[in-house]
Amino acid sequence: MKHLLKLLDLTGEEILGLLNLADQLKYELKHGIAHPLLQGKTLGMIFRKSSTRTRVSFETGIYQLGGHGMFLSSNDLQIGRGEPVEDTARVLSRYLDGIMIRTFDQAEVETLAEYGSIPIINGLTDFCHPCQVLADLMTIREHKGVLQGLKMCYIGDGNNMANSLIVGGLKTGMKVSVACPAAYTPNREVLDFAAGCGAMFTLTESCEEAAAGADVIFTDVWASMGQEGEAEQRRAVFKGYQINRELLAAAAPECMVQHCLPAHRGEEITAEVFEAHAAEIFDEAENRLHAQKAVMATVMK
Ligand code: CP
Ligand code: NVA
Repeated sequence: MKHLLKLLDLTGEEILGLLNLADQLKYELKHGIAHPLLQGKTLGMIFRKSSTRTRVSFETGIYQLGGHGMFLSSNDLQIGRGEPVEDTARVLSRYLDGIMIRTFDQAEVETLAEYGSIPIINGLTDFCHPCQVLADLMTIREHKGVLQGLKMCYIGDGNNMANSLIVGGLKTGMKVSVACPAAYTPNREVLDFAAGCGAMFTLTESCEEAAAGADVIFTDVWASMGQEGEAEQRRAVFKGYQINRELLAAAAPECMVQHCLPAHRGEEITAEVFEAHAAEIFDEAENRLHAQKAVMATVMK
């Protein structure tokens, strides 16, 4: 594995390999066992969008691996003033050992990988959020013991999170059901991949149908970063696409609730459900650290 650009590029075995390493690194951290797998290496972290979890977990993670993280806001880089990504990739490859990038266009991440000569890690684009979904799969496996055969449900916008959850869930043997409004379905390339998985995937406009018998239910914000101007209109479209007590009644008895955060209580999830499932939601946030250390240790070694 040279990069982490999107989960579509990985096999199920590669995903499970990352999860196994993440479990091991979590164990070592909790037991005070040093794991300087990237001693002396530097990760550049380019952000064109805001972040709490991704920024802090990557910077802490590279430090725990014996390396150094460098926060690079696009407001301060020449890339923010129009220097081509192709040139930025070739320059940064002369200084750094890896780049994590959070940006809008997936093509920018792919271009960095094409023109640079160092590993590129996708820290979220409009298309996908692979690091988040590795942490999500890790958390489900921690709580349930397995992934294969479980039913994952996603409620809401067919956005970057939906795209990565569909791919990550199906590649690890989960059944995946998605409920979203007809005009807000996941990306075509992802739906084509899912169609190849036959009855393992279902897409519907009905939250109850998607949630029936689910072992884990996900949701995400109705307006993602970059869509702030549409927030009002989206609130009207997505009303009802919410994880609440009534919806959970349709799921399996011990159904987990996951949210990548930040959460908007009263919109995609009720405060009641959020707080009842806070322990597993914050496990999910913690696991960003461990899953991303596994990614860095794999691609930057
Ligand atoms: N879930 C997630 O990626 O959070 P941040 O936007 O805070 O990084
Ligand atoms: N869909 C959200 C995820 C945030 C982690 C966004 O892109 O803003």
